[in-house]
Amino acid sequence: MKPLDHKRLVITGAASGIGRATSLLAAAEGAYVVAVDLADGVLETVREIRTTGGNAVAMQADVSDENAIAGCIDRCLSEFGGLDGVYANAGIGGAGKPFADMTAADWQRTLAVNTIGVFLAFKQAIPHLTRQGSGALLATASVAGLRANAGGVDYSASKAAVISIVQTMAYQLYGTGVRVNAICPGLIETGMTEGAFERARERGTSDRIGQVNPTRRAGQPIEIAQMACFLLSDRASYVNGQAIPVDGGLSASLPWVFPRA
Ligand SMILES: NC(=O)c1ccc[n+]([C@@H]2O[C@H](COP(=O)([O-])OP(=O)(O)OC[C@H]3O[C@@H](n4cnc5c(N)ncnc54)[C@H](O)[C@@H]3O)[C@@H](O)[C@H]2O)c1
Repeated sequence: MKPLDHKRLVITGAASGIGRATSLLAAAEGAYVVAVDLADGVLETVREIRTTGGNAVAMQADVSDENAIAGCIDRCLSEFGGLDGVYANAGIGGAGKPFADMTAADWQRTLAVNTIGVFLAFKQAIPHLTRQGSGALLATASVAGLRANAGGVDYSASKAAVISIVQTMAYQLYGTGVRVNAICPGLIETGMTEGAFERARERGTSDRIGQVNPTRRAGQPIEIAQMACFLLSDRASYVNGQAIPVDGGLSASLPWVFPRA
């Protein structure tokens, strides 16, 4: 028996990075996956899953559009006969501007995808999960939602809100059998961060990436996917209302510089 056998999952942001790695691993662990993304790459993710004998369908949808995300949940019900979990992972890096240059429209875009996108996916899933009396809701927050210095003000606030959503919703779903958690990744090499990795390669400073965490490197999408698949599975049956850092130890520390010998 595989850890996610027969789990019917909706995974957003599945075209790239963490969402793609989680879709591939979940399918390999026995799940039926509705892979959701705005980008065409979601078709390639599903093609790869099917090539290796897994079950998946693709939906091109904007997670900030309630009707579109409702359609993805419906597709899981019609295609796979039910719903057992949602991983609301799609996200954007934010406006990337100093806060004084940011506009309200910049904020609204970041919050629409990173925060309201999570809320809408959870909201659309909850009636099905509570009726069945079991299910797992999972979101990707960030270490930027825990501490300063890992993103812009809009991005960091959008991720702090995701942490609050999972903590608050776990209590609002008291006694329903539905668990709600978030993962807080550190620096992971994905589409979102590829510019930083490329620039470091060009400058010959790749070996400096990730040096501020005690594991002394950046993470790979599979290292988040492994935690995601655990939290979506019944092996995590007593994990609820948590925002779990997967960051090489970055968030464990206060800023500190090694003294020179
Ligand atoms: N890469 C990191 O270092 C890092 C660190 C902490 C948190 N995260 C979070 O991880 C999550 C996944 O990002 P990633 O790093 O894999 O980046 P990525 O860019 O590789 O993947 C993000 C995916 O989300 C999709 N997406 C964006 N907006 C969407 C929308 N409105 N509707 C549907 N799909 C949309 C993109 O098309 C893309 O395929 C994000 O929530 C991100 O904020 C990433």
